[in-house]
Amino acid sequence: MRIPIGLLGCGTVGAGVVSLVRRRADRVADMTGLCPVVQQILVRDPHKDRGVHFEHEQLTTSAEDILGDPDIQIVVETIGGIEPARTYILEALTRKKHVVTANKDLIALHGPEILQTAAANGVSILFEASVGGAIPLLGPLQENLTANEVTDLKGIINGTTNFILSKMTEEGLDFDEALALAQELGYAEADPSSDVDGLDAARKLVILASIAFHTEVHLSDVRVEGIRHVTASDVRYADEAGYVIKLLADGRDRNGRLSLSVRPTLIPKSHPLAHVSDAFNALFVRGDAAGDLMFFGRGAGRMPTASAVVGDIIALVRNLKLGVVTSWPYALAGSRKPVVDFE
Ligand code: NAP
Ligand code: HSE
Repeated sequence: MRIPIGLLGCGTVGAGVVSLVRRRADRVADMTGLCPVVQQILVRDPHKDRGVHFEHEQLTTSAEDILGDPDIQIVVETIGGIEPARTYILEALTRKKHVVTANKDLIALHGPEILQTAAANGVSILFEASVGGAIPLLGPLQENLTANEVTDLKGIINGTTNFILSKMTEEGLDFDEALALAQELGYAEADPSSDVDGLDAARKLVILASIAFHTEVHLSDVRVEGIRHVTASDVRYADEAGYVIKLLADGRDRNGRLSLSVRPTLIPKSHPLAHVSDAFNALFVRGDAAGDLMFFGRGAGRMPTASAVVGDIIALVRNLKLGVVTSWPYALAGSRKPVVDFE
């Protein structure tokens, strides 16, 4: 049986989703008897070259072709930004469609509203791709590590800035050259200032901390500083002194009091995070039972991000087969742990 999917947006990530769903459809059908098929794709310009060959997929400029289609049970949002993505997702959930999104801006800002709407309508919302690209982070924190009190999250969770800092360190590129290259490779956000000013990493930290520390976290809880002011000579001096500069996200829960920051940080070359280069991401997690864990992989780009989105789609297809709904209730608890300065 076909499971028609509606895709909202078909840029860097969306085009990867189209080709990866096609590649994995037969295997999912063999596993579940249900075959996911991207049926309708919402774009602004249907004539643009998207680096993907469309077969049966239909392009449309009307969201209603997806949201109003009763056959579409899964909606995937890869538009980005707040509006119209928020309205489309809420509409899809209200019409009892399951949703997958890669949109960290939206989940960081409107996560509670979106999760509550999903719960109220008995449908799932999954957003693994919103943090860390291909690296499974939200699933492990929400599921495999729930037996732990997580006390520390520390890592590199923005690929663009890591790419820029790596190119400045390793190849002596200047900031603007490295940023232009990151944009060409599809790592940067539509507005790259959210990458370079640290906001993208801060939004991801909000999502990670909400899940890991079991509380509602707001963007204003995070102290944010970007890398715009980091110069080639800063990078060189750091190198000579045995350090690299990384944009480090740091979240701590000390007996129910949170401290959260994103800022350029000197990392000794002997530290594992110093070797995370290019657009790779890495996250260190400390749990009271698990001890220390490190997650590492490609944090941005077409196919790595599609890997996480399509993983969520396949999870939803399995849910449909089993007749269950995935519920990640972190934002439903309504608790707010106090936020304090780092000690
Ligand atoms: P992108 O390349 O800019 O693609 C955005 C797509 O959305 C385009 O196809 C665009 O259509 C469509 N779109 C934009 N506004 C629209 C509107 N008002 N109505 C209908 N369609 C609209 O963005 P992306 O890099 O794929 O990122 C998508 C999402 O994934 C974002 O939330 C981003 O933060 C997240 N993400 C990206 C990466 C990455 O490495 N790029 C990694 C993880 C998560 P047209 O093409 O016709 O203009
Ligand atoms: N712009 C983001 C980054 C995309 O560079 O990390 C992946 O979330």
